Amino acid sequence: MIDLENNLKLKILVKENITRCYIDWMNDYEVTKFTEQRFEKHTKESIERFIAEKYESNTDELHGIFINNRHIGNVLISSIDYNNLSCNLSYLIGDKFLWGQGIGTCVISEALNIIFNKLRLIKVSAGCYENNHGSIKILQKNNFLKEGIRKNQVNFEGKRIDVFIFGLLKGAKI
Ligand SMILES: CC(C)(COP(=O)(O)OP(=O)(O)OC[C@H]1O[C@@H](n2cnc3c(N)ncnc32)[C@H](O)[C@@H]1OP(=O)(O)O)[C@@H](O)C(=O)NCCC(=O)NCCS
Repeated sequence: MIDLENNLKLKILVKENITRCYIDWMNDYEVTKFTEQRFEKHTKESIERFIAEKYESNTDELHGIFINNRHIGNVLISSIDYNNLSCNLSYLIGDKFLWGQGIGTCVISEALNIIFNKLRLIKVSAGCYENNHGSIKILQKNNFLKEGIRKNQVNFEGKRIDVFIFGLLKGAKI
């Protein structure tokens, strides 16, 4: 059992964090199939460009997920809007052998700490394919509410499927 409280850290991602493993997860259909990344071919150069773009952005923060200093996935806080104090959250644990051990739940909780306490935002949204049961579960475990459904929003393995929109307001009573 991993001691997540002491060993899980989110840190702004830099190009020195790119490894063969990172490039491989981004090209692994099992990892990306519930995300728009499934349509892209990822290379060291494309990932370097992505990290640089996010590093320079005023509206997005790209964090690496690290366990015992090993990079295992990413969290993107995007569309940061200081007028409305809102943002969007997305996440990916690339090392699929670590799925199902509570890491995703803990990652969302750490991301909420950054969003509400460091960035001082008050509303966060996250989109999720209707069949991504693991992702739906970790949002609900962190008190997100299902706020809407974008009907037949995406192509998924030959079918049109819905995207659920989840949201959480800082301090919301559940
Ligand atoms: C989604 C993701 C972040 C979940 O991370 P994780 O570390 O496996 O999450 P946790 O272990 O904290 O929790 C997963 C929960 O969902 C449940 N779950 C996982 N797959 C499930 C499935 N197919 N059906 C039902 N429940 C499922 C687990 O049993 C667990 O529930 P529990 O805490 O009650 O046991 C991870 O699978 C991932 O990165 N997937 C690839 C990228 C992705 O889908 N990103 C999200 C895009 S919206």
